[in-house]
Amino acid sequence: MYNFTYWRICRNLKIFNIHILAKIISIANQKGGVGKTTTAVNLCASLAISGCKVLLVDIDPQSNATSGMGFPTNSMEGSVYELLTGIRSPKDCIKKTEIQNLFIIPSNINLVGIEIEIVAMQEREFILKKRLDEIREFFDFIFIDCPPSLSLITLNSLVASDSVLIPVQSEYYALEGLTMLLNTIKMIKNRLNSNLEIEGYLLTMFDSRLKLSNQVATELEKYFQDKLYPVKVMRNVKISESPSFGKPVVVYDPLSIGAKNYTELANEFLRRNGKEHLQKFDNILTYEAPKFEVVNKENEETNNRANNN
Ligand SMILES: Nc1ncnc2c1ncn2[C@@H]1O[C@H](COP(=O)(O)OP(=O)(O)OP(=O)(O)O)[C@@H](O)[C@H]1O
Ligand SMILES: [Mg+2]
Repeated sequence: MYNFTYWRICRNLKIFNIHILAKIISIANQKGGVGKTTTAVNLCASLAISGCKVLLVDIDPQSNATSGMGFPTNSMEGSVYELLTGIRSPKDCIKKTEIQNLFIIPSNINLVGIEIEIVAMQEREFILKKRLDEIREFFDFIFIDCPPSLSLITLNSLVASDSVLIPVQSEYYALEGLTMLLNTIKMIKNRLNSNLEIEGYLLTMFDSRLKLSNQVATELEKYFQDKLYPVKVMRNVKISESPSFGKPVVVYDPLSIGAKNYTELANEFLRRNGKEHLQKFDNILTYEAPKFEVVNKENEETNNRANNN
């Protein structure tokens, strides 16, 4: 009874844009390689550095967000697979990253078969929602990095979310497939999750020298108006280098243009969510990266084992 009342109060506060429970945001676009994972990793890192308590949930079997944060992708313990199948409690799947305030539920290759396993479960579209509801109170924001498909697992993510952030690559076929995604969101809003909103559209891999990039940007502004983030993420080599070091670009090279873009995005995200007081970096040049070791506890264990063999 108490829990239910508490939940109702939290829901009502949400109407006034005050979140006591974490706001859950899916980063989704069924088109592959548009910058979903890059956005998930870097937005989460920037928000955590701003002081928000953030959880990144990697529900993609490719596990790119997991490796991009410096975690091994072959670890079986405490992954999103165990979260979804209920083998472990949600709390036991949360791992601390080397960035203060940033936590992750990693993915691994086991997730490939998850659809077959959960398809027979009761209320199969609500599995992730139920699990995340158990840990919502511990965070300000929970981001879910979706796979490039509109599969049951993506459906679970959208049902669990308050909003969806859609990265769009600045290329000729940028809008291709978006209709399908928007129809899916509409269907979910009508039938499964009436709270689901569009958080915003983000233009990624923008190259201001290319006429095409500028044309795509103009086109998107026309379509999406103020739902399109004013921040454009530039095509930047530091962004593509950073995952191989297991670090977000905002930590790998805080002075790079890519880091600056994602920091600006975090500031705009906070502003749109009524938390502008947390905006940190007016000037990225004054920002000092936190100490961030690629080696985290799990890596350390793996390395020790490898060295002993
Ligand atoms: N702004 C950028 N500048 C340069 N390279 C980028 C940028 N954004 C993303 N990339 C690179 O493009 C590739 C695809 O990006 P990313 O993995 O984030 O896309 P995705 O949408 O998550 O892909 P998938 O659909 O496979 O999950 C990666 O190699 C990434 O490093
Ligand atoms: Mg990805």
